[in-house]
Amino acid sequence: MRVEFYKHNISQQDIDNAVSVLNSLFLTTGEVVSEFEGKFSRYLGSRYTVGVTSCTAALHLSLLACGIGPGDEVITTPMTFVATANSVIHAGATPVFVDVEPETANINADLIEGAITPKTKAVLPVHLYGQMCDMKNIRQIADRHHLIIIEDAAHAIEASRDGIRPGELGDAVCFSFYATKNITSGEGGAVSTNKEAIAEKLKRLRLHGMSSSAADRYSKRYEHWDMEMLGWKCNMSNIQAALLLNQLENIEKKWQRREQICQMYEEAFEEDSGVTCLKVLPNSKSARHVFTILVPPPKRDRILWQLQEKGIGVAVNFRAIHLLTFYRQTFGCRRGMYPMAEKIGDSTITLPLYPKLTDEEVRYVIQTVKEVTAEYAQTRVE
Ligand SMILES: Cc1ncc(COP(=O)(O)O)c(C=O)c1O
Repeated sequence: MRVEFYKHNISQQDIDNAVSVLNSLFLTTGEVVSEFEGKFSRYLGSRYTVGVTSCTAALHLSLLACGIGPGDEVITTPMTFVATANSVIHAGATPVFVDVEPETANINADLIEGAITPKTKAVLPVHLYGQMCDMKNIRQIADRHHLIIIEDAAHAIEASRDGIRPGELGDAVCFSFYATKNITSGEGGAVSTNKEAIAEKLKRLRLHGMSSSAADRYSKRYEHWDMEMLGWKCNMSNIQAALLLNQLENIEKKWQRREQICQMYEEAFEEDSGVTCLKVLPNSKSARHVFTILVPPPKRDRILWQLQEKGIGVAVNFRAIHLLTFYRQTFGCRRGMYPMAEKIGDSTITLPLYPKLTDEEVRYVIQTVKEVTAEYAQTRVE
């Protein structure tokens, strides 16, 4: 049997929506983007959403919109995709890592205060795999030290924790619509915020810093525009927005199927002494974006290859990013600095998780994982 690592969920309705934009006059940022932004804000319960071309752009522009730049430090996690910390560097600031919690792999809020210096301007928590960080605690820390919070919710559109949604306690929250994300336009991203000034600045920053958009220039009488700040080119197009519009309507149904699959995995591995799962906390709804298992570090790569040989698509989300060459060379990072992130990064294997996965495929993945890990049963990762 072959089980793909990922299959998208683009429906005929999504394709029809995109085709109707392609048959229309206006392909770039226009009414369809505004419609998506409005729908996304309503889904999330936030006041403003600004569509961009990726979560990387969303993070970069949010940092700029919040006034973060050279000389500033931003506290974040090493257990994330490189985009998170890279965007801090793109903004001219310095990422400062804090280790993660063993149970969730999210940033350990109790360690944040120890990393704050006079240069610290912001905290950038990542809601890893779909489970939110301890935002109540992080908001209190940020308030005590007058810090901005920008959330990386690339994995966590549907999440909540302690009744709080992504972006509710942060100054801005960033989402990804990359090919494997819970809703997707192939590439795409968005920032949501409750602050009008941040939303307005983001609209400028996503389009060169220009004072009017292409839609403004087209739909109204031509007026000369100004460039008020140096911006970038990462505005979402109507084509991307058209693909996303309808996916928001089905988002909870798709989440329910992923939740079911995760529960099948968790129940199956509960009894298995060779495999450990991370935990979803009792007061938390995980968006269930990525399902990872932890296996003994020295055997991880061998298990990874064996699963692939048996037809199962797998990935590693993520090896701790402070150990990657660029971060070692640029910031002097080394092994031992963030032991929990290193341990999880050395142990983790991501299994297939998407609504189109059949029960039969899930059972095949479970059975195969059990088979290939059986011989390592004595060295469970605690
Ligand atoms: C945690 C996290 N943040 C940011 C990103 C960047 O998203 P994008 O590819 O939309 O730039 C990703 C991408 O997978 C991610 O996993």
